[in-house]
Amino acid sequence: MNERMVRGMSNLLGLCLLIMGMSLGSRASPGFYTNTSLQEVGIKGESAMLPCTFSSRTPSYNGTIVVIWRTKKAFLGPLIFQCSIMNSTSGNHSSNNCTEWDRETHRYRLVGDPRRYNLSLQIRNVAYDDKKFYYCRVELRNIRGESWTDKTGTNFTVVARPRIIRLTLSGNVSVGRSLECVVEGLPLPSITWVRPEKNEMPTPEETKYAEQDQIQSKLSVSQNGTYTCRAQNEYGQDAEELHVGEKPSETQRTIILLLLGLLLLLGLGIAAVIFMHRRYKEVADSSDSQTRHSRGKGPMNYFWSHGIEGKILM
Ligand SMILES: *[C@@H]1O[C@H](CO)[C@@H](O)[C@H](O)[C@H]1NC(C)=O
Ligand SMILES: *[C@@H]1O[C@H](CO)[C@@H](O)[C@H](O)[C@H]1NC(C)=O
Ligand SMILES: *[C@@H]1O[C@H](CO)[C@@H](O)[C@H](O)[C@H]1NC(C)=O
Ligand SMILES: *[C@@H]1O[C@H](CO)[C@@H](O)[C@H](O)[C@H]1NC(C)=O
Ligand SMILES: *[C@@H]1O[C@H](CO)[C@@H](O)[C@H](O)[C@H]1NC(C)=O
Ligand SMILES: *[C@@H]1O[C@H](CO)[C@@H](O)[C@H](O)[C@H]1NC(C)=O
Ligand SMILES: *[C@@H]1O[C@H](CO)[C@@H](O)[C@H](O)[C@H]1NC(C)=O
Ligand SMILES: *[C@@H]1O[C@H](CO)[C@@H](O)[C@H](O)[C@H]1NC(C)=O
Ligand SMILES: *[C@@H]1O[C@H](CO)[C@@H](O)[C@H](O)[C@H]1NC(C)=O
Repeated sequence: MNERMVRGMSNLLGLCLLIMGMSLGSRASPGFYTNTSLQEVGIKGESAMLPCTFSSRTPSYNGTIVVIWRTKKAFLGPLIFQCSIMNSTSGNHSSNNCTEWDRETHRYRLVGDPRRYNLSLQIRNVAYDDKKFYYCRVELRNIRGESWTDKTGTNFTVVARPRIIRLTLSGNVSVGRSLECVVEGLPLPSITWVRPEKNEMPTPEETKYAEQDQIQSKLSVSQNGTYTCRAQNEYGQDAEELHVGEKPSETQRTIILLLLGLLLLLGLGIAAVIFMHRRYKEVADSSDSQTRHSRGKGPMNYFWSHGIEGKILM
């Protein structure tokens, strides 16, 4: 009596769990799970990969595999990617669109092969907006209820390599001059200056911008010369230089360019002279030797001398 009640209750509990599982679209079947990483970092403007693999009870499932990626919430979040693939040996390629970019944004596709239990997603041209949680899901369509959603999700964060947006000089000698270097990067890069002054005073002033990823460094300038603004964070660095005052290297560059131009002209001239000389010789050769063609020189020689001969004969 007691035993039956317990069994009944456990059956009821089992049924409840089953219904709950089904309504959530996942079934806690042993040996069926997904494996993702908890944390991934993407670099702005580049490609990123969100790893996800799964394991299945069915050793070699040969039906349709549907892969779904959502953001924000595991089951109800916005669907960003969906594809299906047939795992048949006949290889029906028409039913595989997993390696295609999604139709809406053209930024998501699978780089993992679902047939090899790999659902890894690629995001290209990563932007700050992509900072979200991502959830993968797999459905083995031909087996009833065989589907699994990752519930923990991947916390995707976005960083940016440093990039110097501008380096400008303002003011003039009488009111004082200063350099401004505006840099983008996340985390905010540290800015260092390379300057001609022996005395490294005064220290630059830094201003953070409203944009979370931009910072400006302002340096007062007391001496002419080459200044370099260098920005660095853990994901990279960037540098730009500016010549303040006289521009010796600028004039040097022009002189070098001029010299190179002259050399090029000279070279061309010499080449032209040699070329003309050769042709002249050939024309002379062919006109005093009639057996020349049968000796079989290169085809170019043949056509050339032939043409000239025609002209000479006219
Ligand atoms: C999940 O993936 C990680 C990294 O690829 C791996 O070390 C770990 O063993 C995997 N866990 C399972 C249960 O497959
Ligand atoms: C797909 O088919 C291959 C070959 O039959 C098999 O080894 C593999 O386990 C199958 N993949 C899945 C996800 O069942
Ligand atoms: C999958 O394999 C089973 C037998 O192993 C076969 O009966 C079935 O037709 C196959 N399905 C597909 C879609 O190839
Ligand atoms: C290939 O898949 C498509 C779409 O699922 C289906 O219409 C077509 O009949 C399949 N072809 C073969 C040879 O299985
Ligand atoms: C693949 O095809 C399915 C069904 O037509 C569609 O819902 C899905 O958006 C497609 N996915 C891609 C990446 O093209
Ligand atoms: C899944 O596929 C991606 C892309 O090809 C690869 O980098 C990753 O190592 C694969 N994961 C596993 C566990 O094989
Ligand atoms: C996601 O990761 C970031 C960076 O590590 C962390 O600051 C943030 O708290 C994490 N979000 C959640 C909800 O855990
Ligand atoms: C320097 O700048 C100030 C303010 O912009 C201006 O009034 C002044 O005429 C400038 N002097 C020279 C020499 O250009
Ligand atoms: C720096 O260059 C400016 C012209 O750009 C010039 O007026 C000034 O005298 C120079 N200063 C020094 C210290 O050479």
